[in-house]
Amino acid sequence: SRSINLAVIPGDGIGQEVVAQGLKVLNAVLPQDVKLETKEFDFGAKRYHATGETLTDADVQALKQHDAILLGAIGDPSVPSGVLERGFLLKLRFLFDHHVNLRPSKLLPGVATPLKGQPEIDFVVVREGTEGPYTGNGGSIRTGTPHEVATEVSVNTAFGVERVVRDAFARAQARPRKKLTLVHKNNVLTYAGHLWTNIFNEVAAEFPDVTTDYLHVDAATIFLVTQPERFDVIVTDNLFGDIITDLAAAVSGGIGVAASGNINPSGEFPSMFEPVHGSAPDIAGQGKADPTAAILSVALLLRHLGYETEAVRIEGAVSADLAERDSTTTRTTDRIGDALAVRVAS
Ligand code: IPM
Ligand code: MN
Repeated sequence: SRSINLAVIPGDGIGQEVVAQGLKVLNAVLPQDVKLETKEFDFGAKRYHATGETLTDADVQALKQHDAILLGAIGDPSVPSGVLERGFLLKLRFLFDHHVNLRPSKLLPGVATPLKGQPEIDFVVVREGTEGPYTGNGGSIRTGTPHEVATEVSVNTAFGVERVVRDAFARAQARPRKKLTLVHKNNVLTYAGHLWTNIFNEVAAEFPDVTTDYLHVDAATIFLVTQPERFDVIVTDNLFGDIITDLAAAVSGGIGVAASGNINPSGEFPSMFEPVHGSAPDIAGQGKADPTAAILSVALLLRHLGYETEAVRIEGAVSADLAERDSTTTRTTDRIGDALAVRVAS
């Protein structure tokens, strides 16, 4: 019989609340014959303050034993900026080789967008997850003088670029519109830009049915607002992807509904699924957080593990729930989770 061995990291702030709803919906959607085993991990600000640890070698070994990881959010103002980002989130992305950072954007009926009209928004950003300016290459002698110099080096390898570009082409080919846009800044970042553009064009030759396009990242931000319908699949570098996916979330319903997957496509290490939003300490513990993004992240998780039917069921339930949402009444985190659990079960 089938089984899912899931590592659960609620993390900080609203992470706790939204992950509980994600698990509720996961339990409701899985058929009887699938055995779900979960193990909770206590990473985040609390553990850091208590022990000084963010993610130990033993933690990494323990996480490796799972089929996938569900993450709420990690981060708290009480922890100096960068400590948990580098010591936990980025460390896991690098160690588990999460080179495909998948961030779909779909404007669902009934969902408010700051854009005019009700534009068609249905695209997915394949953000490179293990290279670029995120590698921690660079340096500075912190003299505090006017002569201080800091460098932040973007690392781009042919191996790393090719594998993510190939993944994006395959995803584009599997979608009805079959269109892939490379987003970069090859007019200024000429070294990395050349590598990305060349590899993109080489791999394109193997996918003749996929229409290709190229946009500089600054122009892409304009089109994301003025013509979001022109995008189907976007492939881009780690930092550009970070920035444009926040914009993408903002135009397609906000971070309350934005899901993401940190994916290791080979399955060598567990992939990790998380809402794009952070820990939102200002609203934590009040039942105000929208668990939809976490629940949609569970759908991505299920799809990654081969449970396509169940993933589609969750997405359908979210879509129906959003369409019927009444803007005059606000539901608690728990109520939204309950409603979605009922919908996926029926
Ligand atoms: C994200 C976040 C992270 C990133 C931060 C918290 C390190 O913004 O997942 O998009 O920059 O990748
Ligand atoms: Mn980000």
